[in-house]
Amino acid sequence: MPARFADATRAREVALAFDLRQLPADYYANPYPTYHALREYSPVHRLPDGGYFLSRYADCVTLYKDTSAFSSDKKREFQPKFGQSLLLEHHTTSLVFNDPPLHTRVRRIIAGAFTPRAIADMEAPLTQLVDGLLAAMAAKGSAELVADLAAAVPVEVIGNLLAVPHAERGPLRAWSLAILGALEPVLSPGQRERGEQAVAEFLAYLVRLVADRRAHPGDPARDVLTRLIMGETHGDRLAEPELLHNVIFILNAGHETTTNLIGNGLFALIEWPEERARLLARPELIRPAVEELLRFESSNQFGNRVTTRAVAVAGVAMPEGAFITIGIGAANRDPAEFPDPDRLDITREPNRHLAFGSGAHVCAGLNIARLEGRIAIGRFLARFPAYRLNGAPVRGGRARFRGFLSIPVALA
Ligand code: HEM
Repeated sequence: MPARFADATRAREVALAFDLRQLPADYYANPYPTYHALREYSPVHRLPDGGYFLSRYADCVTLYKDTSAFSSDKKREFQPKFGQSLLLEHHTTSLVFNDPPLHTRVRRIIAGAFTPRAIADMEAPLTQLVDGLLAAMAAKGSAELVADLAAAVPVEVIGNLLAVPHAERGPLRAWSLAILGALEPVLSPGQRERGEQAVAEFLAYLVRLVADRRAHPGDPARDVLTRLIMGETHGDRLAEPELLHNVIFILNAGHETTTNLIGNGLFALIEWPEERARLLARPELIRPAVEELLRFESSNQFGNRVTTRAVAVAGVAMPEGAFITIGIGAANRDPAEFPDPDRLDITREPNRHLAFGSGAHVCAGLNIARLEGRIAIGRFLARFPAYRLNGAPVRGGRARFRGFLSIPVALA
């Protein structure tokens, strides 16, 4: 896939006309020429709806670091988008879309719950789960990497983290896709309805799960849900809706993003056979390889902030209340930070990518996601070193969450 437009006039035109609400069809397969064009010709790009899109690494970092000028609170943005609805209640109660004090309280409780012990405990069951999935693929002789591996791993990991009973995990993934789907730049009536329905069903399910966990608490060193409930009763109290919506958020945050890390990662290793060969020769490179895969095809392409006062970003004046999209995928291909940015280099060093964001809201589950990526990608590769496409992969067709719906492969 070419990472740049061949001709400068076209690149300039694309940059100046860039509109998040009207993305051209070819953007979804390969957004990188557009990102390079933006960085070159309109790095702090004014969108037709009055918002801004940032594509330079340094500008994105500036936004992440300054939480007083750039707020995560989305009430003003989501009110007109969602109207009075459960989707509005959900997305405006999640910690990720809040500033202090709600953000600080919830973040403290969650960070305290994702203990190194809880994460270390995940490794053995995760390895066992992945090996079981690989054995099932071996028996079939071929695989569909998303359904057979990438989507199957996160639902179990997050389910284990919150100790959701196995028999009740079935609907979690569909709820999660529907709720996060409602965050796309443009929302169809169908997407809105599916999202609304998913929040309603998820809440109804969690009310029962939380009541049950209150009655039968788990081990707080291992069970995040018990920890969140305890946090609620000891001092720092989360009101019931805060607790429920943030549990939904944790369940959602860890699904599609991690599925796409695994799917995008294994796809990139098909397209970059020399890097796959290096990783096969030196499996210990899986750590830096996962970082590079996160940079190269970031599963979450956008972050969002709103200005709390009149500010200037890279010399461009913005009024108070301006909506800004942080181009994570663009920043991660910025040659000013990453030499030869369109090359996959599994030993890239340094690699300060923004796939998990940065600053106060940096992904709270980043070490869980990394562990899942290392085990799923590393073990798949070791078992099926010669895997290759045996059909056309299908992309998800979404701008914010970049990934595939299916990647059919032959295993030998
Ligand atoms: C490859 C997988 C993942 C990616 C790319 C990813 C990406 C991100 C990004 C970019 C943010 C920052 C949002 C912002 O600044 O506005 C974030 C926040 C968050 N993520 Fe992840 N994430 C991943 C996996 C996970 C997992 C597995 C979990 C939980 C188990 C998780 C839980 C969270 C939470 C709780 C936040 C909110 C943090 C806050 O607002 O303080 N994420 N994630």
